[in-house]
Amino acid sequence: MGKMVRTVIADALRRSDFGAEINVKGWVRTKRGNKNVSFIALNDGSTINNIQVVADIEKFGDDYLKPITTGACISVTGTLVESPAQGQSVEVHAEAIEIYGTADPATYPLQKKGHTLEFLREIAHLRPRTNTFGAIFRIRHNMAMAIHTYFHERGYFYFHTPLITASDCEGAGQMFQVTTLNLYDLKKGEDGKIDYSDDFFGKQASLTVSGQLEGELAALSLGKIYTFGPTFRAENSNTPRHLAEFWMIEPEVAFNEIEENMDLAQDFIQYCVRWALEKCQDDVAFLCKMYDNELIDRLKFVVDNDFKRLTYTEGIEILKEAIAQGKKFEFPVDWGTDLQSEHERYLVEEHFKRPVILTDYPKEIKSFYMKQNEDGKTVRAMDVLFPKIGEIIGGSQREEDYEKLKTRAKEMGVPDKDIWWYLDTRRFGTAPHSGFGLGFERLMLFVTGMQNIRDVIPFPRTPKNAEF
Ligand code: 4AD
Ligand code: MG
Repeated sequence: MGKMVRTVIADALRRSDFGAEINVKGWVRTKRGNKNVSFIALNDGSTINNIQVVADIEKFGDDYLKPITTGACISVTGTLVESPAQGQSVEVHAEAIEIYGTADPATYPLQKKGHTLEFLREIAHLRPRTNTFGAIFRIRHNMAMAIHTYFHERGYFYFHTPLITASDCEGAGQMFQVTTLNLYDLKKGEDGKIDYSDDFFGKQASLTVSGQLEGELAALSLGKIYTFGPTFRAENSNTPRHLAEFWMIEPEVAFNEIEENMDLAQDFIQYCVRWALEKCQDDVAFLCKMYDNELIDRLKFVVDNDFKRLTYTEGIEILKEAIAQGKKFEFPVDWGTDLQSEHERYLVEEHFKRPVILTDYPKEIKSFYMKQNEDGKTVRAMDVLFPKIGEIIGGSQREEDYEKLKTRAKEMGVPDKDIWWYLDTRRFGTAPHSGFGLGFERLMLFVTGMQNIRDVIPFPRTPKNAEF
């Protein structure tokens, strides 16, 4: 038999030209059988479904088939046959099998038995070969495609903002420094502060926490833009919802006010979730069956229902009322303090039983760039809160007034010299505009039903962990 063009298994499983000669390549999931035939379940990552390879033992010889164990990589050429077995449409009756690589059963960690997600995190280099992580990473790809498609089809431009920056967008001081200075021999000025003039950029630089500030410049020229890239936060919070390196999608739209920003947030998330339901059916169904029986219902619910909109102040009243009725929270509820995840989840999961958009937060707990309301106390912020996740989106209408923005930046300790270029947009042709940031891995948590953010990104970066 000559060398044949490979058919990916996702395509092979859809074929019905039985009798045709076919070549498939992939990694062995299991091998079982009897003294006459071996059944090899083969997977190449194109789909969660395996193709069954039937190998006649007499034809190949026991010794030849022996090293084909779980994890081995093989190429199989044979005949496509309608499968008599339940739950699979086709199988391949092997004519020739080439072994690319064996996987010693004594040391290959992914044997047939189920592994815990914790264990699989320790072998992140191999976990994409499991059903679970194959499904998750195919869905992750699909969500990225959904995001680009959504914005592209609506006239948004994908705008690339820098990852290295000298300004702290969120003003939260959670940045990773970028330096080429010799840390063993730091030059300090008379005031004892580090002298950055010799550093690579001639000043202190960091990895960005958000592309928003540059995104706003783009919106005030191109009209509608979005960013989609990695962001970095050195917050030392070891939680199932925080990463030190995560991906964020940040649309920014000139002339949008807060209501239109909320409309966009809802429509955008619903579009992505619908994409997962329609285009990742096998993978979502697998995760639903294995990890979270309510996953598909929850996804459908979000697609079909409007998000509840209310102000932070109204949210606080509801929480206080709940406490009065006997509800216990770990953290106190007071107007002016940030909501804890338990408060957010109460509103979403118990009170409204649907996604919630909270607006008009106290200005003290939000960033300097948010548009100030007339009341002098609140800003036009919006957080989208999701079942099981808590905050999935943070955004706002932006302060477009030069003097108000400058004053607020100063009050919040953001130096003019770092953001003069940002302030310039308010001096020259300023306009109302709004935007938000969606945490990509938070979206992934929602569509996969996974509980830990470390399981929805291939190589998670968290405090004390940068392996792989
Ligand atoms: O609410 P955040 O901090 O908002 C911003 O960064 C704005 N500049 C966005 C904008 O208006 N353009 O972050 C936005 C979202 C959060 O709602 C959350 O989903 C996600 O980013 N996020 C994280 N995801 C994983 N790990 C972390 N450490 C995260 N911090 C924020
Ligand atoms: Mg936020």
